[in-house]
Amino acid sequence: MERTARLTFDDQTIELPVIEGSEGELGVDITSLRARTGLIALDPGFVNTGASQSSITYVDGENGVLSYRGIPIDQLARHSNFVETCFLLIYGHLPNKQELDRFGARVTANAALHESFKHHFEGFPVDAPPMAMLSAMVNTLACFYPRVELSGGEKFDEEAAWLLSKTRTIAAYSYRRSMGYPFIYTDPRLSYAGDFLHMLFSQPLEEYIAPPEIVDALNLILMLHADHELGCSTTTVRIVGSSQANLFASCAAGICSLWGPVHGGATIAVIEMLEAIERGEMTIDQTLALARKKQNGFRLKGFGHRLYKQFDPRARILKEAAVKLLDRRGVGDPLFDVALQLEERALKDPYFIDHRLFPNADFYNGILMRAVGIPRNMFTVIFAIGRMPGWIAHWREQKAEPAVRIARPRQLYTGLQEMAYVPIEER
Ligand code: ACO
Repeated sequence: MERTARLTFDDQTIELPVIEGSEGELGVDITSLRARTGLIALDPGFVNTGASQSSITYVDGENGVLSYRGIPIDQLARHSNFVETCFLLIYGHLPNKQELDRFGARVTANAALHESFKHHFEGFPVDAPPMAMLSAMVNTLACFYPRVELSGGEKFDEEAAWLLSKTRTIAAYSYRRSMGYPFIYTDPRLSYAGDFLHMLFSQPLEEYIAPPEIVDALNLILMLHADHELGCSTTTVRIVGSSQANLFASCAAGICSLWGPVHGGATIAVIEMLEAIERGEMTIDQTLALARKKQNGFRLKGFGHRLYKQFDPRARILKEAAVKLLDRRGVGDPLFDVALQLEERALKDPYFIDHRLFPNADFYNGILMRAVGIPRNMFTVIFAIGRMPGWIAHWREQKAEPAVRIARPRQLYTGLQEMAYVPIEER
């Protein structure tokens, strides 16, 4: 039986269809609301608004569940790698051997950048933020892609492989530029993550081949960030894509959105907070007290999430991986010790209990990145490489919808009513 929700406004009552998702979650379909009542739904930050139906990623924030195409994230973390996860997200199923070989070969074959990209990089100041270079250069890919105006058509497979592969090279070049180092060419004999680390850290006559545990840890970080349904950056990609902008432009916009400190930039903010505690600039008690006070705008970085009212499953996996890698390498990290203490205290604190605030993916992400050897100014860039398959999958899913409407929200105007223009000498 079709379920409906009833809305009464003044003397009119209308019935609105209720749509059920495959995990039983419910949404009221308000697409006819304005036409039937003149009302719009006001929901800043889209806190209650479902902007699309999607079969890519499922998050159950109440129970701390995350799955890609139905497969729980901890199973992928244990058995998969980033390239296979890219295929899963974009094409909707785990690839068989032949599909994976073809896809992997395509990604490997497309790693190199056109030589003129070097000149683009040379135009940036040495201290340019790598995220600014990354978004600009991903957008620039459109200039080099033949017939980009047909983006999303029969060449989609090639386009997706291009983007996945070249984003990694652009990311490495952004770092090299920020350090004033020469650019290092891709090595097709290496894995996706291994080649990235090689392009990041090799020097002329001194090749860096990452040990397997470092490659595994980077694969894990990328996989865990590969999609998270309609986060701010993915929503951005869908919004830009709804205007029929090409894949490169849409994903470049996603990178800009990810840059913000309460989204992808939070990993750096967490490390800075832990460092301040480690240096003795503030104690754990003072940090928690600051986070409890609303007025100062300070938040405990790496805690809280729009969806998770439970432990973010990614935080648990990243924490375990950090323990394992630091142990394997036989090194400690003083910031990890601070993070463990801070987490323990926050989880016992009535404010955090009442607000249901738990560690999110960013809390231990920076610790693991440090153990991998990733420089701090590259944390958000790594997140962007990881999220690329999710953005591509969402862009493709939206493109396949029969009638995509351009994203164009309404507003409630609160400005002045009509005023006459006043010439400047009379003002
Ligand atoms: N520290 C202290 N209080 C917090 C925190 C925090 N980290 N997060 C939320 N709260 C409080 C809010 O003050 C608010 O309290 P109130 O209801 O008494 O007014 C309540 O919890 C709900 O917070 P909202 O801002 O409504 O939550 P929202 O869903 O809008 O924001 C967000 C989620 C942005 C992640 C927020 O929790 C935050 O700023 N966290 C710190 C930054 C961070 O770690 N960002 C990474 C997000 S995950 C990612 O992008 C991969």
